[in-house]
Amino acid sequence: MEKIVEVLPSLELLIERSLAIILDRISDSIAERGFCAIALAGGSTPKPLYEAISKQSLPWNKIHVFWGDERYVAPEHPDSNQLMARKAWLNKVPIPATNIHPMPTKESDPHVAASIYEQELLGFFQLTPGELPVFDVILLGIGDDGHTASLFPHTDALKVSDRAVTVGSKDGQPRITFTYTLINQARCVMFLVAGSSKKAALAQIFAPIADNYTYPSRFIQPQGKLWWLLDGSAGQEVPSKSA
Ligand code: 6PG
Repeated sequence: MEKIVEVLPSLELLIERSLAIILDRISDSIAERGFCAIALAGGSTPKPLYEAISKQSLPWNKIHVFWGDERYVAPEHPDSNQLMARKAWLNKVPIPATNIHPMPTKESDPHVAASIYEQELLGFFQLTPGELPVFDVILLGIGDDGHTASLFPHTDALKVSDRAVTVGSKDGQPRITFTYTLINQARCVMFLVAGSSKKAALAQIFAPIADNYTYPSRFIQPQGKLWWLLDGSAGQEVPSKSA
């Protein structure tokens, strides 16, 4: 794993830098493998990044968009990560509908939905059961509590290491989420973190010793590149470095 930490003076510069990195990764992935598989983060931080990507002229037919987690709500629900990304980006570009791979949220049992998505990943990446997909880029955020994707502190999702997709839980509400095992297969994981409310969690995530089950973002140690892109407020006490 190559870990790179960049603290940018403002959210605007954080988004600008994130865009530049993503465009490079998309270009390299397509050059090397003919396509780019990117998994999106939800929440609010990445929205301006998605808006910025929508303004780019890219080979959209070679870009496949997945989600790293999803609230268990209808695609039209205001909390839907899918809806946010479609409105900010995907509805604005000529990407084929078949290149957009949302997490299913219509099954009565979220565990069934997680299995359906796992099967979709196995099919897309042409894998056999037990193999894990290797995404070109996985975008992530962190919560004030140190969660990432829908891997929340002290939840059962953190105990699932033999699957690609599982069911997360926030305050008893189900979510579909990549497992940390899947995330760690990625060629590039990018955390986008902004705001002083994330400072305390970052201190624990970057601490030499802390409990992963309390700060689940600590589980993210990908085989490829790990980029932490922080704005000045969030990254005040995090040393900028690459390792
Ligand atoms: C979600 C996200 C979640 C998010 C963090 C940060 O579904 O909410 O995937 O992991 O990245 O909670 O959210 P903000 O960017 O809104 O602070």
